[in-house]
Amino acid sequence: MVGEVWVKREDGKFWPSEEMKKKANISDESIYEKSYEDPISFWEKMAGELHWFEKWSKPYEENMPYFKWFIGGKINMSYNCLDRHLDERGDKPAIIWEPEPPHGETRVLTYRELYKEVNKFANVLKSLGVKKGDRVGIYLPMIPEVQIAMLACARIGAVHTVVFSAFSSESLKHRLVDSNAKVLITADGYYRRGKVEDLKSKADKAVEGTEVEHVVVVRRIGSDVNMVEGRDHFWDELMENAEDFCEPEVMESEDPLFILYTSGTTGKPKGIIHETGGYATQAYTTTKFIFDVHDDDIFWCTADIGWVTGHTYACYGPLLNGATLLTYEGAPDYPDPGVWWSIIEKHKVTIFYTAPTAIRMFERLGEEWIDKYDLSSLRILGSVGEPIGEEAWMWFFEKIGGGRCPIVDTWWQTETGGILISSLPGIGPFIPTFAGRPFPGVRMTILNENGEETKPNEEGYLVQKSPFAPGMLRGVFGNPEKYKEEYWSKFEGIYYTSDGAYKDEDGNIRIIGRLDDVMKVAGHRLSTAEVEDAITKHPDVAECAVVPRPDKIKGEVPVAFVILKGDYREGLENEIKDIVRKEIGPTATPAEIYFVDDVPKTRSGKIMRRILKKLLRGEDVGDITTLKNPESVAAIKEKISKTE
Ligand code: PRX
Repeated sequence: MVGEVWVKREDGKFWPSEEMKKKANISDESIYEKSYEDPISFWEKMAGELHWFEKWSKPYEENMPYFKWFIGGKINMSYNCLDRHLDERGDKPAIIWEPEPPHGETRVLTYRELYKEVNKFANVLKSLGVKKGDRVGIYLPMIPEVQIAMLACARIGAVHTVVFSAFSSESLKHRLVDSNAKVLITADGYYRRGKVEDLKSKADKAVEGTEVEHVVVVRRIGSDVNMVEGRDHFWDELMENAEDFCEPEVMESEDPLFILYTSGTTGKPKGIIHETGGYATQAYTTTKFIFDVHDDDIFWCTADIGWVTGHTYACYGPLLNGATLLTYEGAPDYPDPGVWWSIIEKHKVTIFYTAPTAIRMFERLGEEWIDKYDLSSLRILGSVGEPIGEEAWMWFFEKIGGGRCPIVDTWWQTETGGILISSLPGIGPFIPTFAGRPFPGVRMTILNENGEETKPNEEGYLVQKSPFAPGMLRGVFGNPEKYKEEYWSKFEGIYYTSDGAYKDEDGNIRIIGRLDDVMKVAGHRLSTAEVEDAITKHPDVAECAVVPRPDKIKGEVPVAFVILKGDYREGLENEIKDIVRKEIGPTATPAEIYFVDDVPKTRSGKIMRRILKKLLRGEDVGDITTLKNPESVAAIKEKISKTE
């Protein structure tokens, strides 16, 4: 079947079709100029579409490197996602959930049903002693309880910190300790590629020695789990007697909504703080304009809720807009590589938001899995998390979108809370490999080393200028120094993204990639230092350096150069990989480990990862005479060429 045509081709670029322009929430290009000149009024107008218990007295205030939005405004996130829609959309599906086959049935929660569950669980949290401002850990798979738990925290003003379910107990523990969480919400387990993943015993290990007083356990698989008397409770048992209504807490706009940990340049992930009113405004506005949600749309964002994409576009953004969101518990290629496409056909998904790594994987798995299904319901495609190459872009456009749907290549970060660069479906253009223009009301630009704006096609540092977008981070939990140093020290009064980029003549931005020691492995953000810290926990390892190597499917994979204390022995590779899995999780496992005698260092002893990166890519390493140990380069080069 051929669906409606939402895009047309002109001058080698793609533009919205007349149908798309007619349907789109925004199609007037003057929005860019108007909002650039007066971003504060633009955001005030958008915030005004949400429900405020009390309007703000001042829209924006800056005291660098801190800034505030909607000062004095009183708001509640769960009220805006739920209560606000009950009259008009009470019976409309809010969440459609697909289990990993064959373990269960599709679950549909209407806005009214979701409202009821959230209210009840908010009362459960209160009964466990959770108060406004307390931190609550959420370590759940992709089941509707994850959105229910997040919204329930928001309802009572508790700050959630969601931890990706594939992360190890060590990773969970670090986050629980750092955020000083009082309660943890987890599950007995979940299904992944037909296997049962045991979540509860990982949670048990993580909770030991922390301040966590209560653990709530969702029964997803019904396994026999160890329950600690007085500390552990089953979700369903607590919900049985919970009241149906919980008064939403009246929050200050600047009160924190969540903390989400992400990798920076050091060994330990940092807690990024997002507040309520500004984040809600940005999540609402970007979902409305970039994904162009309407009442008849079914929006599927494939990201796990453990990442910021899941927070903003598989929970808050669609619900703030009263949209129907779809979530899927399982892996993209199980029980076969047709599962995603079968879900799109079954539920007539109209907006589909995924990552380049998944697109590249499907490109290689063969088209027969796609051709079997009717994807004509699709209207808009989205990409996020890493640069999407031209080939993958065109394949996504032709094969999944049937050449009918625009692709919005959305650039943003955990720190930015919502999308900051993307084209808009009703305005365009959609240019392969270009993310597009800065979102209305956002002053993204590119600077050279001296802090001057770059010319078209000149590469530089991607930055954001004041006034900063409302959904931006407000700090690093418990570490104000880190906040200043990582984001505000490169250029005065300007937010530095750590990404390199350039603009074309029309101001469309193309992202080159990270300029720091952060890797994107299958779209997941990891720091080289984190993996190095895990590897050096092995007693035989004296020193190590981790760098990313390009990978056809995952984008990048970590490669480790290891210096041993003694001699090499059989089995070390696997032992090291196991440590990384245990300390961080499977995503961080090195794709290759080279045992070397030395790694290139500066005279002051700093490891030159840049040289290792070049060696892995087979590029010229340039002048190495100033190194402390230039001979190490040739030795490593030989090792690499042997394994190739
Ligand atoms: O390098 C950029 C890349 O992902 C980084 C942010 O990672 P994370 O905090 O995990 O958030 C990812 C999802 C929002 C950025 O610094 N990145 C994100 N989106 C794109 C991208 N690179 C190129 N194109 C994108 N669309």
